[in-house]
Amino acid sequence: MSGAAKKVGVVGAGKIGGSLIGRLSASDGFDLTVSDIHAEQLERFATGYGVETTSSNREAAEAAQILIVAVKPWDVGAILDEVAPAFEGADGAGKAVVSVAAGVPIGAIARRLPEGAAVLRVMPNLCAAVGLGSAVVATNERGREHLPVVMEIFRHVGDVMELPERLFDAATALHGSGPAYVALFADALIQAGVREGIPRDVARRLVNQTIGGTSVLLKERAAHQIRDEVMTPGGTTAAAFVAMEKAGFVAAVYDGIEAATEQARRLAE
Ligand SMILES: NC(=O)c1ccc[n+]([C@@H]2O[C@H](COP(=O)([O-])OP(=O)(O)OC[C@H]3O[C@@H](n4cnc5c(N)ncnc54)[C@H](OP(=O)(O)O)[C@@H]3O)[C@@H](O)[C@H]2O)c1
Repeated sequence: MSGAAKKVGVVGAGKIGGSLIGRLSASDGFDLTVSDIHAEQLERFATGYGVETTSSNREAAEAAQILIVAVKPWDVGAILDEVAPAFEGADGAGKAVVSVAAGVPIGAIARRLPEGAAVLRVMPNLCAAVGLGSAVVATNERGREHLPVVMEIFRHVGDVMELPERLFDAATALHGSGPAYVALFADALIQAGVREGIPRDVARRLVNQTIGGTSVLLKERAAHQIRDEVMTPGGTTAAAFVAMEKAGFVAAVYDGIEAATEQARRLAE
């Protein structure tokens, strides 16, 4: 598939699908077709992005070599039933379906497609919207030949790694939902600053820049190293750590990830 533009279809022009379309359309390596049930979702891509839009998922599947299904988990089954005929015969054999839905296993997707279909599963996150996403990818045997191009697609919106599918529910909990946890922590910090008398806009700038700066530091040193560099013995950070840990901060993080992992497992049932 190298050389010519890759034909990529996206079903669902929402938060994840829309981020992909935005970034992929800026590169000339992709020939994009996008479908959604909402005409207004498609409108913003119809003009200015050089993307084909259609209200028919089947049409998007027929035009694509790689079809990315980017709808809510409970909508995936009906869409697969609609697009399955596009994966039949000699033409269909060279195509692949890529699902980004939380909790929907490769096996369940393959069962709704013609036998032997190539299926890959990707768990991205919302940071894809600013090109700083993280994604993990798993594939069935037939999908392996499509793995390089699928990784290339998701590299356009961030970092991509291969991960065994058995760890997808945990990864969904960790980085799929991750931006929401960081946002929760940011909001709590801002509120705490306001409570101590710092004007809201100043607290917001201080917290945003601290989180952005720390994420850069984390690329070059371990989390515990940053903690030790900030924490003077007997100082303010040490006092904050004792208070936060007494209040169960770390245990709350463990519980949250465990609850999200279990919820992802339940979605698969
Ligand atoms: N958002 C995240 O942070 C995130 C992170 C990791 C993984 N994911 C996964 O990514 C998937 C998409 O999530 P999202 O947040 O991007 O969803 P979203 O913003 O709701 O986008 C999905 C789009 O597809 C449309 N749609 C629904 N049924 C359809 C159909 N039958 N045919 C065509 N289009 C249809 C939706 O319309 P309606 O609004 O009417 O339903 C919506 O416009 C989910 O399965 C989720 O598990 C999301």
